[in-house]
Amino acid sequence: MVAMRRKIVEVLEGKTITPPPLWLMRQAGRYLPEYRATRAEAGGFLDLCYRPDLAVEVTLQPIRRYGFDAAILFSDILVIPDALKRNVRFTPGEGPQMDPIDAAGIRALKNDGALKHLSPVIETVRRLRDELPPETALLGFCGAPWTVATYMIAGHGTPDQAPARLFGYRDRATLEYLLAFLAEISAEYLIAQIDAGADAVQIFDSWAGVLGEEEFEDFAIKPVARMIEIVRSQRPQARIIAFAKGAGMNLRHYRQKTGADAIGLDWSVPLSFAVELQKEGPVQGNLDPMRVVAGGRALTDGIDAILQALGHGPLIFNLGHGITPEADPENVAALVRRVRGQADVTA
Ligand code: CP3
Repeated sequence: MVAMRRKIVEVLEGKTITPPPLWLMRQAGRYLPEYRATRAEAGGFLDLCYRPDLAVEVTLQPIRRYGFDAAILFSDILVIPDALKRNVRFTPGEGPQMDPIDAAGIRALKNDGALKHLSPVIETVRRLRDELPPETALLGFCGAPWTVATYMIAGHGTPDQAPARLFGYRDRATLEYLLAFLAEISAEYLIAQIDAGADAVQIFDSWAGVLGEEEFEDFAIKPVARMIEIVRSQRPQARIIAFAKGAGMNLRHYRQKTGADAIGLDWSVPLSFAVELQKEGPVQGNLDPMRVVAGGRALTDGIDAILQALGHGPLIFNLGHGITPEADPENVAALVRRVRGQADVTA
């Protein structure tokens, strides 16, 4: 096959593309009726993640509808704890749950072929590369060690990840052991995704924003830097986006210290600061997902402000966090047209 330059890869290499390429975090999901239908067919959420035929289908659904510039592998960041036998469950209406891990459990974790468990996900990546239009980039992903650890320690989602923060103050050495362990296995997982055909990978640190300055260094930056170092030592061409949600001023040195090609920005990052960050390299973001729910002027004004501030440098247009189930698919269509400068949106 002739090597194809995919727009998002070009931006990750530092190029400015007008209009900017776009995809949306959580673009395959409950706001789409076709997702809900496939989800019902699968039964459990993890069954959906581990059945390549269905995972390929839901990954392609938003591409068919909107022609985004990238497809993101359909899976979840919590397949890593699942591979580590933490008894992960997704009960509808309750969010993810697993057995909470303690210090002894952390020290007993073993990476002996845990990734074999994830071979169906790798198979999904392989099939996707065959089925996607050649111009569409394929993104792999995993959770950052800190974010995955917060769920492993609490055993479920919490509003502020207090259990993991508390664990860090009481037994920092064991938390750092867990983060280093997760960095190794996650790097191995990303390499497998790249080898199976992912053009780039995104590391989701959705809970970076609950960390103090010193903890951000040790729990968010260090493990992600280690992951990227491992990936690059084996796949020097790997393209990596790092998204540390809520990190605010801590983003200032995040790209340089982690070695990521691009940094993801949530909607609370002021555009004036985003412009400064973009001088150092590509950025991705950062529309508030609630603007997509609201539609109308809230949507168009938000899009225009981002394009005006960041459209003259390397930008991947995206939301500042995942799209929510309440979003109207029509508003997403309007967003795509607006970013591509194709038509006006009426309120
Ligand atoms: O972006 C995509 O379209 C790809 C698929 C994807 C999912 N989760 C599917 C999913 C990705 C990239 C994720 C990442 C993820 N998962 C993160 C990081 C990004 C973020 O949103 O902060 C986190 C923290 C998780 C953990 C997780 N998975 C939670 C907290 C939940 C429950 C909340 C919810 O939205 O229901 C999930 C479930 C989940 N992962 C769903 C989807 C489509 C909904 C489950 C369902 O269909 O029943």
